[in-house]
Amino acid sequence: MKSLVILISGRGSNMRALLEARLPVRVAAVISNNPEAAGLEIAKMYDVETGIVDHRTYPDRAAFDIALARKIDFYRPSLVALAGFMRMLGDGFVNRYKGKIMNVHPSLLPSFPGLGTHERALEEGVRIHGCTVHFVTPRMDHGPIIVQAAVRVLPDDTNETLAARVLQQEHRIYPEAVHLFMEGRLKLSGSHVEVSNFISDNLVLYSPELHK
Ligand code: GAR
Repeated sequence: MKSLVILISGRGSNMRALLEARLPVRVAAVISNNPEAAGLEIAKMYDVETGIVDHRTYPDRAAFDIALARKIDFYRPSLVALAGFMRMLGDGFVNRYKGKIMNVHPSLLPSFPGLGTHERALEEGVRIHGCTVHFVTPRMDHGPIIVQAAVRVLPDDTNETLAARVLQQEHRIYPEAVHLFMEGRLKLSGSHVEVSNFISDNLVLYSPELHK
């Protein structure tokens, strides 16, 4: 069976969604750069092995990246899933896992990379916001897009209400993207992702109109 390593830094709700999705994959380990990450306790509840590579104990990013890669490679995963992993990763690290490392981000990329996505979406007055699962490239929150989900921005939305609706969609599309990968249906073609046996948009685009 194929295996997955999940990297987290905090709460771990996307990690939990992956664990609960009953995907045809063995979650070999959950690794955090933050020893206090609440998600580590959740992983233990699911009997998943956990590991810590604390970035504060390394002299620089390169040394941290090497230690993290060593830890990941021990499990020989088919895929590495960043699930709220909030450390920038160096080019060498990212290229080592090219096409085998995914991230979930709370915006419709390429809009709003980085932090504070919901506040910025509200500030800009966008009508549609959402989330993206993409393959990781050395640029932060950037890379070939696998699945996106759109949510309407409502007139009385606050940062919290919008974040909650987007997070619900993250929990839906991340397992979907990992599933497609594990089925061998994702092919990188330059900066795009092709999905084989593609039947309908429903697989890679979730929107209020398509999924009532
Ligand atoms: C999620 O909203 C995820 O999309 C975001 O961090 C949150 C982690 O929550 N990731 C990024 O912003 C990556 N740039 P979680 O720990 O509950 O999954």
